[in-house]
Amino acid sequence: MTSDPSLIEDPAPLQTQTVPSEFINRSDEIEKLEQLVDPETSSNSCIVGERGTGKTHLVLHQFQKLPGQVNTCYVPCKRCDTEYKALKQLYQAVTREEISTGHHTSTLYREIEEKTTELPALVFLDDIEFLLQNDGDSLLYQLSRTNTDQLNLITASTPGTNLKDELEERTYSSLHPRRLELEPYDGEKVCQVLVQRSRDSLKPQSVHQNALTYIASTTQNLTYALTWLETTAKKSMDKITENKVREYREQAYKDYIDKQLREFTRHHRLLIQAIEELEKEGEPPIYTGEIYQRYHELSESYSEDPVSNRRLSTYLKHLELLQLIESKYHYGGQQGKTREIQSNYQNI
Ligand SMILES: Nc1ncnc2c1ncn2[C@@H]1O[C@H](COP(=O)(O)OP(=O)(O)OP(=O)(O)O)[C@@H](O)[C@H]1O
Ligand SMILES: [Mg+2]
Repeated sequence: MTSDPSLIEDPAPLQTQTVPSEFINRSDEIEKLEQLVDPETSSNSCIVGERGTGKTHLVLHQFQKLPGQVNTCYVPCKRCDTEYKALKQLYQAVTREEISTGHHTSTLYREIEEKTTELPALVFLDDIEFLLQNDGDSLLYQLSRTNTDQLNLITASTPGTNLKDELEERTYSSLHPRRLELEPYDGEKVCQVLVQRSRDSLKPQSVHQNALTYIASTTQNLTYALTWLETTAKKSMDKITENKVREYREQAYKDYIDKQLREFTRHHRLLIQAIEELEKEGEPPIYTGEIYQRYHELSESYSEDPVSNRRLSTYLKHLELLQLIESKYHYGGQQGKTREIQSNYQNI
């Protein structure tokens, strides 16, 4: 029998979607979160932290610990980015029934109210910024006034989204969220997470400490850091060294983008491709006009029906919210508003 040459013994701990059973260096935050989601306190809360600081998993981990008498509902706002889509997700979670489209929102609100009168619910609106691009304000306003003792909301967003500024005054005051901030991990803490998760996933002595230190000195985003290690581990047959991780940096970033864009369209990917190509060809910055033109060329070569520039502008905003690109806005001039775009590869 030949032995398995792969370094990976158990893939799950290195996969970013795996919620860890133990969180390193987050005990204070976990304690605060426990108080925030305590069904007795009945308040709404918002979690704020940069990408890859553990917002999603800390709340999901907390959900697992809640008593069965609380109905928990996860609403991924990247996908559920309108009032209707989010309501539908919420309705399905509290009633455990599938619904088709075409129901009036008032009917859904009423049913949710009835159900949550029987059983308290905790609703996690993750990546709320995507919902706020559309009619999310209305959803937050309605839900914050529904069964206030029984239905609690928790939102997660990056520091670039300030709920107080983004929401109507009456919505913010009705929601009145208590805030939990997650500081980014420093290099040492990123490294500790990488050590633990690689220990749980890889065969003994598969990684050189320098390799982990290198990743941790490049990024504070744990999703990217773990993806990078996973990408390298999948490609390696012998010990992962610093040189190995350097070699796979670009591939790892591509894998990270793929993960971030999983909930989005083919056109988002083409926009990213257009930006990457333009950056490789010339000096940054690049402007939206050039990106749209390259996007049209790419669509044609892949026989894709292109979407309107207006739609593309929304999609660029999504890429910005995902922090895959950075935008600088210029107002005025012949073309009205233009955007100067840069990919975020160097700054992640
Ligand atoms: N303290 C920790 N110990 C171990 N793993 C952690 C810790 N914090 C975060 N992680 C892991 O890091 C990754 C990123 O966490 P998570 O997805 O919760 O971040 P996020 O802040 O929601 O990111 P994004 O803004 O991109 O959605 C996940 O794989 C998570 O399990
Ligand atoms: Mg998240």
